[in-house]
Amino acid sequence: MPTTLGTPNSPHATRVMLLGSGELGKEVLIALQRLGVETIAVDRYDGAPGQQVAHHAHTITMSDPAALRALIEAEKPMLVVPEIEAIATPALQAMEAEGLVRVIPTARAARLTMDREGIRRLAAETLGLPTSPYQFCDSLAELQAAIDGVDGPGIGYPCIVKPVMSSSGKGQSKIDGPADVQKAWDYAMAGGRVSHGRVIVEGFIDFDYEITLLTVRAAQGTVFCAPIGHVQVSGDYVESWQPHPMHPAALARAQQIAQTITDDLGGHGLFGVELFVKGEEVWFSEVSPRPHDTGMVTMVTQWQNEFELHARAILGLPVDTSLMSPGASAVIYGGVDASGIVFDGVADALAEPGTELRLFGKPESFVKRRMGVALARDVDTDLARAKAKRAAAKVKPRVV
Ligand SMILES: Nc1ncnc2c1ncn2[C@@H]1O[C@H](COP(=O)(O)OP(=O)(O)OP(=O)(O)O)[C@@H](O)[C@H]1O
Ligand SMILES: [Mg+2]
Repeated sequence: MPTTLGTPNSPHATRVMLLGSGELGKEVLIALQRLGVETIAVDRYDGAPGQQVAHHAHTITMSDPAALRALIEAEKPMLVVPEIEAIATPALQAMEAEGLVRVIPTARAARLTMDREGIRRLAAETLGLPTSPYQFCDSLAELQAAIDGVDGPGIGYPCIVKPVMSSSGKGQSKIDGPADVQKAWDYAMAGGRVSHGRVIVEGFIDFDYEITLLTVRAAQGTVFCAPIGHVQVSGDYVESWQPHPMHPAALARAQQIAQTITDDLGGHGLFGVELFVKGEEVWFSEVSPRPHDTGMVTMVTQWQNEFELHARAILGLPVDTSLMSPGASAVIYGGVDASGIVFDGVADALAEPGTELRLFGKPESFVKRRMGVALARDVDTDLARAKAKRAAAKVKPRVV
C-alpha cells in the first residue's frame, strides 16, 4: 500500500492505470492528479473524457486479453483501476496472481461483477442476501419455462428480463404478461454486449424507493456515505439526490447487506451498492466495485466526493464520508447524433446560486448519450432536485 506518494513523470512516480475513461473515470483521474499521481487513461476510443486529463492515454480493446496484458506489461502501473465491466477480467486475475499488478478492489471482484450472473449467484446463493427471485435462461423457451415454472412456482408476472452482459438498462424490459415475452427476449438479444444470448429474468420488486449506498473499504475499515436516492428511466439513471431519508431499521439492514457483499469482494476502494427498499425490507440488486453514476451528486454534497474517496481508499489513505449539504444531480443527454457539438444556455443554467455543471467532453454525441450532468445544492433535496432539473433543462446541445 503506497502511503508514500511520488512525483509524476519521475522514477519514483506513483503510477495508476484506469481501464475505462468515461465521465466517472475522468473524475477519478482528476482526484488522483491532485495527489500528484501519474495517471494512465485507457479507453476503447481516442479522446475519451478521462484521456483528456491524464498524463498518458492509450486506446485498446480492453476485452482482448492479449492487448490488455501487453499494455499492462509495457506501462507497469502500480494499480489497475477498472472503470467499466467489459474488460478481459480473467487476464487481470492471471496477472494479479503472477504478482504483476494489483487490481482495484481485487481482480476477483472485477470478474464477479463483469456480468450479472457471477455477482447475483454470490449474493443470493453463497452469501444468502435477499434478492428478487431470478433464473438464468439461454433461449426463449427457457425464459417462458422460468416464468411459468416447471415443477414448482415460476418467476411469474410482472418480471424483468436483462441481458447477462449489459449496463445502463440496455436490452432490459419489463414483462407484464405472456404477450410481452417474445418481445422482451428479442430486445435483450439486440441489446446485450456480446452475442451469446444469456439473460436473467427477475421477479419485479414493487419497492417504495431504491438507493445507492456508497460503501468505502479503506485502510481504516468500512465506512458508508449517506444513502443516495435516484430515478431510473428504462434502466438508466436520470436524476439522483443525497441524502435519501430512510427508516433507521431499513438503513441498518442496507448497511449490513452492503458490508456483507463488500467484505466478500475485498480489497480497497469505493463500491456502489444498489438496493431496493419497501418499508423496513431491503433487497440487494447489484454492486459496482467502483464509483457509481448516481453518485455524481456527491460532487456537491460531500466534503470528499465519491471519486476522491475512491482515490484515497486505493492509495491506502484515510477517508471521510461526511455530508456537506443536501443536493441533487440531473442528467444532460446529447439529444442529437453528431460529433463536436456545442452547448447553448450554459450561463443561464449556472445563474442560480448553488448550481454546477459537468460537461464530459465526449467527442461524439448520441441522442441518448449522457453528455453532462447538472448539480445543485439547496437546503433540502426537494429544492435541490428541482434546481438541478431546471439547470439541466437550460443546457441545449446543438449541432454546429
Ligand atoms: N427486479 C426488479 N424489480 C423492480 N425494478 C427493477 C428490478 N431490476 C431492475 N429494476 C429497475 O431497473 C433499474 C436498472 O436495473 P439494473 O441496475 O439491474 O440494470 P443496469 O443495466 O445494471 O443499470 P445500471 O448499469 O444503470 O446500474 C434498477 O435501478 C431498477 O429501477
Ligand atoms: Mg444498476
